[in-house]
Amino acid sequence: MIELRELTKRYGTRTAVDRLSFEVRPGVVTGFLGPNGAGKSTALRMLLGLHRPTSGEALIGGRRYIEIRHPLHEVGAVLDADAAHPGRTAFTHLNCLARTNGIGEQRVRAVLDQAGLASVAGKRVGGFSLGMRQRLGIAGALLGDPAVIVLDEPVNGLDASGVRWIRKTLRALAAEGRTVLLSSHLMTEMALTADRVLIVGRGRLIEDASVAELTARHGSTLEDAYLELTDEEVEYR
Ligand SMILES: Nc1ncnc2c1ncn2[C@@H]1O[C@H](COP(=O)(O)OP(=O)(O)O)[C@@H](O)[C@H]1O
Ligand SMILES: [Mg+2]
Repeated sequence: MIELRELTKRYGTRTAVDRLSFEVRPGVVTGFLGPNGAGKSTALRMLLGLHRPTSGEALIGGRRYIEIRHPLHEVGAVLDADAAHPGRTAFTHLNCLARTNGIGEQRVRAVLDQAGLASVAGKRVGGFSLGMRQRLGIAGALLGDPAVIVLDEPVNGLDASGVRWIRKTLRALAAEGRTVLLSSHLMTEMALTADRVLIVGRGRLIEDASVAELTARHGSTLEDAYLELTDEEVEYR
C-alpha cells in the first residue's frame, strides 16, 4: 500500500508536485499518468526517499521510505533503466545489490530466470539492449521479494515484445497481491496495462478512476479524452 498525503515539492518558484494525495492499493496495477513535466518522476523520487518533500508525505506500508529498515525487501523500484554499471555482467550487478542486502546467489539466479536473462547472466550490461536493461532493472527490483513495486516510465523506448513482457510481468505481480505502480505519459499503453489510473497535470491530481470507468465514460476515444484533459495542463517551455 502506497499513500501520498498532500505531497508537495517546489523548486524555487516552480511547484513540481502540488498537494498530491492518493492511495495505491495491492492486487491491481495502478498507472500514474500525465504529460511530460507533470511531476510524476518528482513524486516517485520523493516516495523513494531520493528527494525531500517541501511539505506533505509519501508512505509505503504506513512508513516513510527512510524509516524502512530493509527497503529492498519492502519496495522494489526502477527509476532509470541505465542504473547498472556497463562494465559489470548482469549477474555481478545483481549479486552486488543482493550482497549489500543479505540476499544469496540463489535468489539472484531466480530473478535472472524470472526476467528471462538467465542465458545472458555472464554478459556485460554495456552490450544490452534497452529492453534487456529494463528487464535487469526489474530483476533487481524483485530481488528482495517486495510487496510494493514502483517503476518510472518502464515502457519508454521499448519494442513491442519488451512492452508485452513488462505488461505480463506487472499483471502477474499484481495478481500475487503486490502493490504495483508505474508511470507513463501514454494513455494507450496504460489502458492495456493498468486496472486503475491516476492522472496528473502540473503536479496536481486531475483524475482517479478505473480504466473500465474511463472507457465507459469516453468510449473508444480514451486517448483523445486524456489528451483533452491534460492539454491545458501542459506547460511549454
Ligand atoms: N531538480 C530539479 N530542479 C528544478 N526543477 C525540477 C527538478 N526536477 C524536476 N523539475 C521540474 O519539475 C517539473 C516536474 O518534472 P518531472 O517530475 O520530471 O515530471 P514528469 O516525470 O511527469 O515528466 C518540471 O517542470 C521539471 O522541470
Ligand atoms: Mg518523468
